[in-house]
Amino acid sequence: MNFGHVSVMLGEVLDALDVKAHGKYLDCTLGGGGHAKAIAQRLDGDGLIVGIDRDDDAIHAAEENLSDVTCTVKIVRGNFTELDKILDDLNVDKLDGILFDLGVSSHQIDTASRGFSYMKDSPLDMRMDRRQSLTAFDVVNTYDEARLAKIFHDYGEERFSKRIAAAVCRTRKTSPIETTGQLARIIEQTVPRTKNGGHPAKRVFQAVRIEVNGELEILSDALKSAIGRLKVGGRLAVITFHSLEDRIVKDTFKRAAQGCICPKNFPVCVCNHKPEVKLCGKAQLPTPDEVNGNSRASSAKLRVVEKLGGASQ
Ligand SMILES: C[S@@+](CC[C@H](N)C(=O)[O-])C[C@H]1O[C@@H](n2cnc3c(N)ncnc32)[C@H](O)[C@@H]1O
Ligand SMILES: [Zn+2]
Repeated sequence: MNFGHVSVMLGEVLDALDVKAHGKYLDCTLGGGGHAKAIAQRLDGDGLIVGIDRDDDAIHAAEENLSDVTCTVKIVRGNFTELDKILDDLNVDKLDGILFDLGVSSHQIDTASRGFSYMKDSPLDMRMDRRQSLTAFDVVNTYDEARLAKIFHDYGEERFSKRIAAAVCRTRKTSPIETTGQLARIIEQTVPRTKNGGHPAKRVFQAVRIEVNGELEILSDALKSAIGRLKVGGRLAVITFHSLEDRIVKDTFKRAAQGCICPKNFPVCVCNHKPEVKLCGKAQLPTPDEVNGNSRASSAKLRVVEKLGGASQ
């Protein structure tokens, strides 16, 4: 299978994770295994890489891609919300490094039948895990107008959310909206095309995708579980692709890195709250060269934390 996905900020991720030859690593968003393979190639026979993805296409591509490495490879189809259970089942305890490279892969976007793209006409689907029942068709055709407007606004930061929701509900009264092409046309006819804002359907498609896959509500807890699985000195690296995701990562990391959380007017600390991690610098962006070669990298941001040990807590 040609997975056609170029791994974003690969060099920066390898530096951030500071890969050790005999270390244990977890890739929570395996995709075709681009990042995972680069990590695995730095591991020896004692090293381990665990990869999780909820998409069966990704699992097959990664199994093939990682078939020739020296280290132990464990690949599991599942949601990264279950990372504790997945690691327990594999008898893996603490890890040296964990990666989340969030969002969708180029393979998912470029495969028309997956129904993620406003550039291709196909049934509205957008499920990363095709075992789940909720699809983009269900969201677009069954959610009421107010709920749609809220999703377009909150998950797509769409200025014309109400107008688009109204147009969707008007259209579907006659017959269901079956395809990505139909939805894209409704949006094109409803909102003005801006010069630099990209395709007018981009934000609504992002919003529907986030809703179908529950992408935002699971993120903070999954990051907390990941921090809990790090060895002292282990690193967690997260790549996001839009501001909504990045805000959740930033806030979760900030809270985990916080010491005392007592109100400012308390003379002494009574909360005994200890920081679990330290922030490894600010968010990193891809180089202009990378963005020139891979437009998908243009909105990427990498944030990294390191697990603190007993003495520092
Ligand atoms: C950007 S791609 C990863 C690409 C990969 N890092 C590479 O270099 O080839 C994101 C992947 O994460 C998966 N994914 C997204 N959310 C997930 C979740 N909650 N649980 C498991 N996998 C998820 C998607 O199915 C997709 O394959
Ligand atoms: Zn305190």
